[in-house]
Amino acid sequence: MVQQTREQWSGSRGFVLAVAGSAIGLGNIWKFPYMAGANGGGAFVLVYLLCILAIGVPIMIAEILVGRRGQSNPVAAMRAAAEESGVSPVWRLIGGMGVLAGFLILSFYSVIAGWALDYTLRGLTGALSGLGAEEAQAQFGSLLDSPGLQIFWHTLFMLICFLIVARGVRGGIEWAVGWMMPLLFLLILVLVGYGAWIGAFAEGFTFLFRPDFSQLGPESVLMALGQAFFSLSLGMGAVMAYGSYLSPQESIGRNTVVVITTDTIVALLAGLMIFPIVFSIGLEPQAGPGLLFQTLPYVFGQMVAGSFFGFLFFLLVVFAALTSAISLLEPATAYLMARRGLSRLQAAGILAVIAWILGIFSALSFNLMSGFHPLGFIDALSGKTFFDLLDGVTSNIMLPLGGLGVALFVGWRMKRAAVAEEVRLGSYFGLWYFVLRFVSPVLVVLVLLYSVGVLRG
Ligand code: TRP
Repeated sequence: MVQQTREQWSGSRGFVLAVAGSAIGLGNIWKFPYMAGANGGGAFVLVYLLCILAIGVPIMIAEILVGRRGQSNPVAAMRAAAEESGVSPVWRLIGGMGVLAGFLILSFYSVIAGWALDYTLRGLTGALSGLGAEEAQAQFGSLLDSPGLQIFWHTLFMLICFLIVARGVRGGIEWAVGWMMPLLFLLILVLVGYGAWIGAFAEGFTFLFRPDFSQLGPESVLMALGQAFFSLSLGMGAVMAYGSYLSPQESIGRNTVVVITTDTIVALLAGLMIFPIVFSIGLEPQAGPGLLFQTLPYVFGQMVAGSFFGFLFFLLVVFAALTSAISLLEPATAYLMARRGLSRLQAAGILAVIAWILGIFSALSFNLMSGFHPLGFIDALSGKTFFDLLDGVTSNIMLPLGGLGVALFVGWRMKRAAVAEEVRLGSYFGLWYFVLRFVSPVLVVLVLLYSVGVLRG
């Protein structure tokens, strides 16, 4: 089954870097803190960690396994793996939904990455120095209010993303992730330290780590599940696509554990970086998607050489977002190339243009279209903008369904011998296989069903 014809990562390091590059991104630094804030803090974080362990780990192993077994883009890999085990090729629809989900996520991801680009420039021009808390929030407000500015940065980000994917992904990602991630990590540590000094560290820490289940709203469990999938890049074939380039000698299990641990630490540190500031400047933890951009500029405003650090930080965030965005565009590109016989340039171009157009509606959700609530007739979704809905549907529904499909496919449809041959988890195989077949799917289904119930009131 394994053919040595595709390009491969340079050993396990290249693969780990690429998957970590995909996983670590805006999900950790921008989304995790504001989701934790909106969902009451500690209890949400606890449920999130449980989702990572019971669902994220087993499903990531399964996704990489299918990718390496099938040696192709997610749709074709699912079909190849299905054929090998003699089951219906209809399973490839899961790959198809994943390709679509990734592409939808890319559209709004690029808008948020655009915000980070805007702040990178602010750092460069010195606009971040000496900011007080109110000024920092006013600055962010004026960015949100400006459709033109947001669309400009969104366009720039999408263009860069397109150019990278159009040139082929491998070398660039390994190189970029290899030195940028460690640097970003270091900078976050510095900011956690600095924030602890000028902010309300004890309060922030308690908020994030002391579970108070009375604060856990009914949909919070679904949010935690969706966030786990989003942050780990699971459920849409990104990891599957990268797995297809992993050499057969490498251990899937060990690589998975390294990536997931790193991703989780970065998310928790981002929370620790932001919440002490939230409380010290009297912001609401529920402030929403702007949380990162409303707190950190204040920190840079207080720091010596703050504008420079702000510039460096947001630049690294942009790069972290780029290595994630690439993994959102790559599977769809690979699919379109294989399916329609397009060149890489054409496929990536068509997709980038469509995602760009969709993204414009997300950018407008924060200003001109902020009063437009497409599904407002459903009680639980009243007040949700186009951006909110796109984010919610992809993270909380499409990704978990995609992950569920992969778990069921690998756990119940692929031949056990093929699975065992591919993962070689040694004495952990039994535990992993059991969790993948019984625990993860049941949990995902329960959470999804529960939230359907909540939606219907
Ligand atoms: N995991 C990335 C982040 O945390 C986003 C991302 C990249 C993603 N590829 C994905 C999310 C695939 C879901 C599926 O920012």
